[in-house]
Amino acid sequence: MARFLITSALPYINGIKHLGNLAGSMLPADVHARFRRLQGHEVLFLCATDEHGTPAELAAAEAGQDVRAYCDEQHLIQRAACDGFRLSFDHFGRSSNAPNHALTQHFCEKLEAAGLIEERTSKQVYSVDDGRFLPDRYVEGTCPHCAFERARGDQCDNCGRLLDPTELKNPRSKISGSTNLEVRDTAHLFLLQGKMQERIRAWVDASTEWPHLARSIAYKWLDEGLIDRAITRDLSWGVKVTQEGRPRPGFENKVFYVWFDAPIEYIAAGAEWAEATGGNWERWWRTDKGANDVTYVQFMGKDNVAFHTVSFPVTIMGSGEPWKLVDRLKAFNWVTWYGGKFSTSEKRGIFMDRALELLPSDYWRWYLMANAPESSDAAFTLEQFQQTVNADLANVFGNFVNRITRFGASKFDAKVPDGGAPGDLEAKLAKDVAERITALTRHHEDMEFRKAAAELRALWVLGNEYLQVAAPWTAFKTDVDYAAVGVRTGLNLVALFAILAQPFVPDAAKTVLDALNIPEASRSWPKAGDTGLLDTLPRGHAFTPPDVLFKKIEDADVAAWTEMFGGG
Ligand code: 2FM
Ligand code: ZN
Repeated sequence: MARFLITSALPYINGIKHLGNLAGSMLPADVHARFRRLQGHEVLFLCATDEHGTPAELAAAEAGQDVRAYCDEQHLIQRAACDGFRLSFDHFGRSSNAPNHALTQHFCEKLEAAGLIEERTSKQVYSVDDGRFLPDRYVEGTCPHCAFERARGDQCDNCGRLLDPTELKNPRSKISGSTNLEVRDTAHLFLLQGKMQERIRAWVDASTEWPHLARSIAYKWLDEGLIDRAITRDLSWGVKVTQEGRPRPGFENKVFYVWFDAPIEYIAAGAEWAEATGGNWERWWRTDKGANDVTYVQFMGKDNVAFHTVSFPVTIMGSGEPWKLVDRLKAFNWVTWYGGKFSTSEKRGIFMDRALELLPSDYWRWYLMANAPESSDAAFTLEQFQQTVNADLANVFGNFVNRITRFGASKFDAKVPDGGAPGDLEAKLAKDVAERITALTRHHEDMEFRKAAAELRALWVLGNEYLQVAAPWTAFKTDVDYAAVGVRTGLNLVALFAILAQPFVPDAAKTVLDALNIPEASRSWPKAGDTGLLDTLPRGHAFTPPDVLFKKIEDADVAAWTEMFGGG
C-alpha cells in the first residue's frame, strides 16, 4: 500500500465554475483519487476555494456585498456543486482561513531570512479621493493603442494588449470613478526568483515523471530566465504582510499577491483537514515527518503550470524547510463551448449548478472524462454529449446490466445460477477481460483519462458481444444448464463492470453493486492478470435488478438546452 497526496487547482471564489473548469482539474483529480483508493492505497485528496485578489474584491463589490460575506456565500455554493458532482475531497478548504494566513506569513519570513525577499520601491497610481494606491485592475481608462474607453490598467479587453496603468489616457479609479489620480512611490516585497534559477532547473531535470506539456512549459520559463516578482499588492482583502509576527511597517495597507498565497493553501488545506478530523497533516506534507514515501500528484489547467512548476517550488524550496514537492503533474488543455469561450454574462455554456438540474452527475462525469482535453482543446457540444451518453452509458453499459439482471431474475429466481460448466467461450472471454483490465489499470495509473474511458467502454462492449453469442434467452428453452453459465457469467460481468466504473460514474456503479448485494469489501480494484474474475459471485447469491440505469437524452432535450445555454 502506497500513499498518494492529490490536489486539484483551487477554483477562484468568484462565481460557480463551468464544465470546462471542472474537466480541467477537479474532476480528473477525483477520478484518480477514487482509483487509488480502490487499489487500496492511502489517499489524501485536497482542494479549496481561492479567495483573495482583485477578482474577489471586484466581484463582491459588483454583488454589493462585503467581500467576506461574499466569499462565505460563494464557498458554500461551490461546495454544494462539488458535492453534487461527487468530488470526493477529503477536505475542501478556503484560502481565506487562518491556517493559510499563518503559513503564508511563515513562508515569507523564511524566504526573507534566506535572502530571497527584498523591499523595492516603484511608481504606482495613487487615488487621492479613495486615499489608497490602486492595483492595476482598479485603474480604468482609454487604451493608448485602440482607443477603447474601458481598458483595464493591466490589459485592454478590446485589443488584448498588455498595459501599464500609467499608459492609460483619461485614467480613473474603478472604485470611485475619481480622476484625481497621481503617480507616487510605493514599496513592495519582491521574491528573488532569479537566485533560485539553478536549483529549480536541477529539480525540473530530475522530475522525469512529468508529462511533456508540463516540462516544456517549465523549461520555457527557465530558459527565459526567472524574473524577480512582486508578491504584495495594495488591497485590504487578503493575507496581511508581517515581520516577526507584527504588521510590517509601510505595508499596513497591503496584502500578499493572490498567486503567492493560493498554492500555499494546498498545504494549509491539509492543516484544515487535520483540524477537522484529528488527522496528521505533516505526515503528508513534511519529508522530515514521514512524507518521504508520499507520491504527490497535482491536477491543473495548462495556464497554471508555470505557477506549479516554478513559482510555488521557489516558495517552498526557498524556505529551506523540508516540504513535499510535486512528483507527478497532470495538465489539461481547455474544454470549449462549441469552440468558443464559456461565459456567464453572455449565457454561453453550462455551469456546474445548472448541469445538475438537467441530469445526474454521472452523465457529465462520463462525457467529460471520455473526451478529456488531454492532447488538445476539446469542444463540448450538446449533440456530442447526447451521442456519447446514449451510446456508451444507455446502450452499452446500462443495457447490459438491465438485460442480464432482468433475465436472471425472471428465469433463475433472482439468484446466481448454479448449473453448467464454463466452456471455451468463457475461457476466451476471461482472458480478454483480464488483458483489458491490465490496460485499463495502466491508463489510470498513467492518468490517461480518455484512454481509460475507451478501455472501460471496450470492456462493456465485450460483455455485450459475449451475451450476443451465448444468448442464454435462446438456450434456456433447450439447455437450462448452458443458459445458467451465460447468466452466471453475465452477472459476474455486471459486478466487474460496475467495480471498474466506480472512478468515472460512482453513483451508477453503487446502484448496480447495491442491487447485486456486493459487500463493500468486495468492491476494490481487481488484480492485474486475474482470469478468475468471471466466477467470483457465490452460487445462489441473491440480487435485485436495478431500475433503468441511464435514460437516453432525446432530441427534444438537446433542442431545449440549446435554447437555454446557447449552441453552435
Ligand atoms: O487559475 C485558477 O483558477 C486559480 N484559482 C488556480 C489556483 S491553483 C493554486 F495554486 F492555488
Ligand atoms: Zn486596446
